[in-house]
Amino acid sequence: MTMLEIIEKKKLGKELTKEEITFFANGAAEKTVPDYQLSALLMAIRLNGMNYRETTDLTLAMRDSGDIADLSGIPGIKVDKHSTGGVGDTTTLVLAPLVAACGAPVAKMSGRGLGHTGGTLDKLESIPGMNVSLSEEEFIRQVKEIGVAVIGQTGHLAPADKTLYALRDVTSTVDSMPLIVGSILSKKLAAGSDAIVLDVKSGSGAIMHTEEDSIKLAETMVEVGALAGKPIIAVVSGMEQPLGTHVGNALEVKEAIDILAGKAGGDLLEVSLMLGGYMLLLAGQAETPEEGQAKMKAAIDSGAGLKKLKEMIAAQGGDPLVCDDVTRLPQAKVIREVTCGRAGYVQKMDTMALGMAAQAMGAGRLTMDDKLDYSVGFVLQVRIGDQVSEDTPLCTLHARSEEDAEKAEQAVRAAIRIGDEACDRAPNFIAVVMKNVLVRLGEEDQ
Ligand code: URA
Ligand code: CA
Repeated sequence: MTMLEIIEKKKLGKELTKEEITFFANGAAEKTVPDYQLSALLMAIRLNGMNYRETTDLTLAMRDSGDIADLSGIPGIKVDKHSTGGVGDTTTLVLAPLVAACGAPVAKMSGRGLGHTGGTLDKLESIPGMNVSLSEEEFIRQVKEIGVAVIGQTGHLAPADKTLYALRDVTSTVDSMPLIVGSILSKKLAAGSDAIVLDVKSGSGAIMHTEEDSIKLAETMVEVGALAGKPIIAVVSGMEQPLGTHVGNALEVKEAIDILAGKAGGDLLEVSLMLGGYMLLLAGQAETPEEGQAKMKAAIDSGAGLKKLKEMIAAQGGDPLVCDDVTRLPQAKVIREVTCGRAGYVQKMDTMALGMAAQAMGAGRLTMDDKLDYSVGFVLQVRIGDQVSEDTPLCTLHARSEEDAEKAEQAVRAAIRIGDEACDRAPNFIAVVMKNVLVRLGEEDQ
């Protein structure tokens, strides 16, 4: 078997065998196949696709290209959660403590932000003292002791993805269903959980822009999960606007604290409850997702969720008092209120542009080496569908300088369209996908 033969086969639209796919994945992980041949095959896969069997073999070969975390020392069913990425998408900070407070162990490995999307690790590191680099032993001990830990990846998980993702980025092959599934699921399967809840985002700030593509991605991931022996439930949720109102690292931590304290609600809470309901169902801590949601609401009301976040922060060396006094989080020098400037209805948001505006303020990275300013970002005061007047607050900017605030103001204004026509609210939920089940969620379910 040679790489040239494999490329030739996929170029002609033929099905690859498990051996051929494994050869290619190992060649990527071990860097024994040159980038030009990997790139040619990636493009052939992008153009001619892969069936579920091939996608599963790719996912498993990528998973097996490195270490697989062993969480068997933690009692109970470990349920992981993954979002395909968005803006103001802070569900992990809300869910990890809340689900743990409801009795399900949460042993979560998260990532850093890149481009317009934020990353949970960066948000956590905005908490003074917080350590996200635990060893595997420390990670497991913490989950056994307090039920929750959120850290960066330990070990050498799915190295094939590292090579392939970097090549996809520069060869216009990111938007390939089998390559996305292989990339995301290989890492999730290597992270060692027993079951997974996926939040597949759809809309202007998401990897998939249309509902049909997002549902197709969700269905493929659920199907591949089943073939790989891992139960997966996928929620397809809207990303036509940032999920939370806060965008920026410390600001997003503040919003999560406010939600756990029962002081804030909105779409971030709704989506968190939806995902958490399925996490508790899969963990065996609820008979139905609705029962799981009710348990989480009770954990907000009793303060048990916020208490769990404090315990987690303290266990990882951070300042738990941020939960009582959010001004202990990094604070920006310049705070500027921006008003809508015209009357009308909020019709549309370019979510990716809003994410890039926060990135340009210093909240995000363009390359993995960029340094972050945890304090900066913005708080949106409007949602799609809102009727506004000229003086209605549009957003509050938290910037490093007046000059940055000025640039951010222009970027945020350009990304939010206010027009004369009334318009509907953007839906939070589009569908839920389980093995052999697709439930489309309409307006009446919102
Ligand atoms: N996130 C990933 O990790 N991989 C992809 O291919 C897309 C999103
Ligand atoms: Ca994320």
